[in-house]
Amino acid sequence: MTGATPQSFRTTSIGAAGARPCTLIVCRGCCCGNPRKHPGTDHTWQLERLRAGADASGGRFVVRTTDCLGPCDQANVLVVQPSGAGRRAGGRATWIGFAMDDDCTDEVLRWAEAGGPGIAEPPVTLELQFISPPRETRSRTRR
Ligand code: FES
Repeated sequence: MTGATPQSFRTTSIGAAGARPCTLIVCRGCCCGNPRKHPGTDHTWQLERLRAGADASGGRFVVRTTDCLGPCDQANVLVVQPSGAGRRAGGRATWIGFAMDDDCTDEVLRWAEAGGPGIAEPPVTLELQFISPPRETRSRTRR
């Protein structure tokens, strides 16, 4: 065999991770989304609104819910995960805390619609709600 690489071996295939859309991970654990702990917010409506935005986005972003992410004292917490393209462009998961009001929900939707981390700049006021991920989660995701 010569040192030349056949054309078929040079083709780069992009798997499912490469085509992955931006994902909104919405915490619905013990505190986030709990109307007894946070009675001033319509949590059901917030989640419906995020899901409706995802449905209307034509697959640009999706919404998932999860159990407690850790920083309950910053409820409601959600994480904006970059799309495959966003990750390749340097985007990283962005944690948002105190996501209780309509303005925050609007801004999250607007950012995800525009492409999310790595693709679009977040609204400046949304940046004020960025929080650090808990240490345990950071180390868990590195495994
Ligand atoms: S319930 Fe959301 S961080 Fe704990």
